[in-house]
Amino acid sequence: MKNSKSINNLRREYKLNKLSEETVQKNPFNQFEKWFNEVMKVGLIEPNAMILATADDNAKPSVRVVLLKEFGKNGFTFFTNYTSRKGQNLSDNSHASILFFWAELERQVRVEGIIKKISRVESKKYFDSRPLESRLAAWTSEQSKMIPGRDYLDTKFQIFKRQFKGKQIPVPPDWGGFILVPEYFEFWQGRESRLHDRICYKKLKSKWKIFRLSP
Ligand SMILES: Cc1cc2nc3c(=O)[nH]c(=O)nc-3n(C[C@H](O)[C@H](O)[C@H](O)COP(=O)(O)O)c2cc1C
Repeated sequence: MKNSKSINNLRREYKLNKLSEETVQKNPFNQFEKWFNEVMKVGLIEPNAMILATADDNAKPSVRVVLLKEFGKNGFTFFTNYTSRKGQNLSDNSHASILFFWAELERQVRVEGIIKKISRVESKKYFDSRPLESRLAAWTSEQSKMIPGRDYLDTKFQIFKRQFKGKQIPVPPDWGGFILVPEYFEFWQGRESRLHDRICYKKLKSKWKIFRLSP
């Protein structure tokens, strides 16, 4: 391909920071919070964008970006359509993985665990906080379904706009939050000469074991 030669030559040395098993937080959620606070200070466009990997009931994987909307000791929450491809995957196979790549800090975070739906009350709380257009879009989009064209979507949006005018918009029955409850974390800090730091946490009998992997 025309550009493959220049792709070969794309190369950077990573030298901004280091990470060690002696200095990381004992709890991976605290370590994530520390890094997330740092990434917020950098002013990235979508610091909370994460890649979500799921697999269907034949173990066939698929990935997409979703936005992290909350994190805490219980896990990582995002919102979506429960009948979408990812929603379908997660109802067949609750194992999933999320990944953050913060290039400006030369960092990657991988989290693996089990995903479950959050309560309707929690989903409603977040849904009600969304801008009007986003709430109407959640009604409009039967996410991941094949549609005849753009007009179909725009017309449907206008229909819901008229239908809900001046009314409280309910949460669509197929829309809501999922929470990933972690069993494994990996914090990756880029280092010089490709000898990167990889510090991991694995949950063993409700305790977090910390260890290092070869880059
Ligand atoms: C920056 C960005 C943020 C996104 N955030 C979300 C999100 O929070 N929830 C969501 O359902 N889709 C989000 N999407 C769209 C998904 O990547 C994906 O196209 C959609 O969820 C359908 O995926 P699926 O067919 O695998 O279910 C986002 C896409 C991008 C690029």
